[in-house]
Order: sequence, then structure tokens, then C-alpha cells
Amino acid sequence: MKATRHPTKYLGEEYRRLVREHLNWELKELQTANEPVCKVDGRQVILLCANNYLNLSTHPKVVDAMLEATKKYGAGAGSDRSISGNMTVHEELDRRLARFKNAPASLTYQTGFMANEGLVPQLCGRGDLFVSDELNHGSIIDGVRLTKADRAIFKHKDVEDLARVMDEVAKHDPPYNHIWILTDGVFSMDGDLAPLPEIAKLAEEAGAGVYVDDAHGEGVLGEDGRGIVSHFHLRRDQVHVEMGTFSKAFGVIGGHITGGEDLRNFAYNKSRSWLLSGGVPPGVAAACTAAIDVLETEPQHVQQVWQNREYFLTAMQDLGFDTGNSETPIVPVMCGESKKAKELADFIWQKGIFALPIVFPMVARDKARIRAQLCTKHTKEQLDRAICAFEEGGKKLDLI
Ligand SMILES: Cc1ncc(COP(=O)(O)O)c(C=O)c1O
Repeated sequence: MKATRHPTKYLGEEYRRLVREHLNWELKELQTANEPVCKVDGRQVILLCANNYLNLSTHPKVVDAMLEATKKYGAGAGSDRSISGNMTVHEELDRRLARFKNAPASLTYQTGFMANEGLVPQLCGRGDLFVSDELNHGSIIDGVRLTKADRAIFKHKDVEDLARVMDEVAKHDPPYNHIWILTDGVFSMDGDLAPLPEIAKLAEEAGAGVYVDDAHGEGVLGEDGRGIVSHFHLRRDQVHVEMGTFSKAFGVIGGHITGGEDLRNFAYNKSRSWLLSGGVPPGVAAACTAAIDVLETEPQHVQQVWQNREYFLTAMQDLGFDTGNSETPIVPVMCGESKKAKELADFIWQKGIFALPIVFPMVARDKARIRAQLCTKHTKEQLDRAICAFEEGGKKLDLI
């Protein structure tokens, strides 16, 4: 018997459906380095949608480290780290990250997505439970989907709802063997923070593990950008996995986890994404180590990104924009329906400002927004231009 729909037909049909329903991604081409002013699709624009919060992707120390390590060790690791690709630069990066995080051990992965998708499914199986914030990142959701564990969802950042879930969990018969509470540290669509101390307390009462994805918190929160665990002054025995990525504030690429020695040993022996995929190129590992070095020795980058965030946020709020629940350099400019968010993004694009509209299904239908992301190297003049463009567009679209 033949399949009813052939791939040559349905791939195109599905794509056209996405286009019809305005759900398709339209890729823009960045033609220069990722800097506050750059060239995109032939147009010079102010970039307000980069994860490169500290602009380390072009920091001379980071770039030089990448070049030097590439010359010395070659363009690629030549193998999975689990086979013969575990180079000195990888081990050095793992050690340096653990030291930066004031933790016993870290393990770096090829990407943050691979860290979550590789480790999460190993933590729980049948007879276990994941408890997850409803707005967690897709890589956590996919990781959970790979298991046979039970799942419970709590309302976004809602400690009371989490307590309710944990009360229910306590009644489960037979008791769960392992329970993990999973949460983003900074939620990437809203720029708000997980109530991590309260989560840790409820976890402790239930004998559960705490797993925090700090992809957007690192480099921004805590002492010299050490992340959310440092920000809330939590102990390592309160947060068992602190996950992160080098692709955002660190300006390079690569995922990582931090915790105890047992976590590291468990993670690299069990994560299929780590075991069965190539190690990052040595230049990448060296650049990540250099980025850590910059964070340890040049605190001005973190200070400046916060100043820029305050400047932009205050100006936008003074204009009457709804900036949601932002607590970080991610500042949502709430627009309501998707159409308005797209129109505002198009309007500011015409004025030379590049910021991303975030629309359904990434957020609820009535919660479309433009997500502005501030970085260290934005100047006041650039931010003023962006604010002016938002003001004009906001008035035109009756948002302010
Ligand atoms: C919260 C969160 N976790 C994980 C990831 C994945 O990180 P990476 O880019 O290193 O794969 C992202 C990236 O979008 C993210 O926002």
C-alpha cells in the first residue's frame, strides 16, 4: 500500500499554507558583522534584535582567540568529543566555565538546544515526573517529549500554581521516583525572570531537582554576568542544573551545564546529543573561553547594557508604550494582534530600525509584540533614533 501524500507534494503544500496564514519566517540577510549598526538586506539599520547583549562576537580578544586556536589546532575537532575530539581547548573551557560559575563542574555542548535536548530526557523516565513552566523554551519541551515521564505544567511564573501542582504530586501513588522542576531563567519573549528562590524552596520540600535554562540571563544577570543563580544568591544544592549557552551574551556558540561533578559525569555519559555528535571547533571553544575572560576582567560591558536598557525602557514607557513585564535587556513592545506588530515592525524597518515582531503561535494571539533587545554598544543617539521611530509608528497605529 502506498502513502496517500507524497513528499514532493506535501512539503510545498505545507509551506504555502504557512505563507497563506502569515506563519512563515521571512529570512533577512545580515551582510556585515553583528553590530548595533549593520547592513541587512542592503539597508543600513540599527539592530535591536540581537542576542549578542555584550557585543562580544566582535570583541578583539574573542576574535583573536578564535583565530589563534584555529591556526594551532585546525578548523574542526575531527571527531565527537566522546571519541577522539576531546581537545585541550574543550577541557579548558569546561574548567574555566565552572570556575566562572563558582561551581564544582561544567560540561559544554555544541549548542544550548543540544544541551537541553540531550540532558533533559536522561533525567526522568517512567515513574518520574517533570514539572514545567508553561512558557519554557522549545528545547526543554522537546527534551521532555523524548521521555516516558509524567508531565505537569504550572502557570507562567506562578508560585501558587506551582505549589498547587506540588501538593497534587505529593498525593501521587505510588510516589514518583524522581521529580524535576524545569524553568527558563529569563523568558525570552517577555524578558521576565523565573521566581527561582521560591521554585527552589518548593523543590526542596518535594525532594525534587531544579533545572534552570539561563540562556538569556548569563552575561547579563548576577555578579559580572554570572547568571541567575548568582543573581538570587542561590546555593548549588538548591539549583541542580544551571544550563546556558555561548550563543547569546558570550557572542559565540555552544551550550553548557553547570553543577556538581556527578552531574558532569552523568551528563556526558548519557546525553545522546553530546555522545553522538561532533565537538565544537577548537576556535569556537577558545573564543568561548576568551569571552569568559572578558566577563571576568571587563565589568563595564554588563554595566553598559543595563544602562542602555534603562534608557530605552524609560523612554518607551514615558511615551505610553506597554512594555510588558520586562526585567532584563529584552524589552517587549506590546501591540496586541499580530497584524499590528507586523505593521509596526515594517514601519520602523522603513525608518532604519530592525526589531523582530513576535506573533502567534510564538505568543498568544492577543499578545503580539515587537521584541527589542538592547546591547552594550548601542549609543544614545542610536537609541533615540529607534525611540523616535517607535513613537511615530506607535501614534500611527494608535498604540500610544
Ligand atoms: C531559553 C533558551 N534556551 C535555549 C536556547 C538554545 O540555545 P542555542 O542557541 O545555544 O541552541 C535558546 C535559544 O534561542 C533560548 O532562548
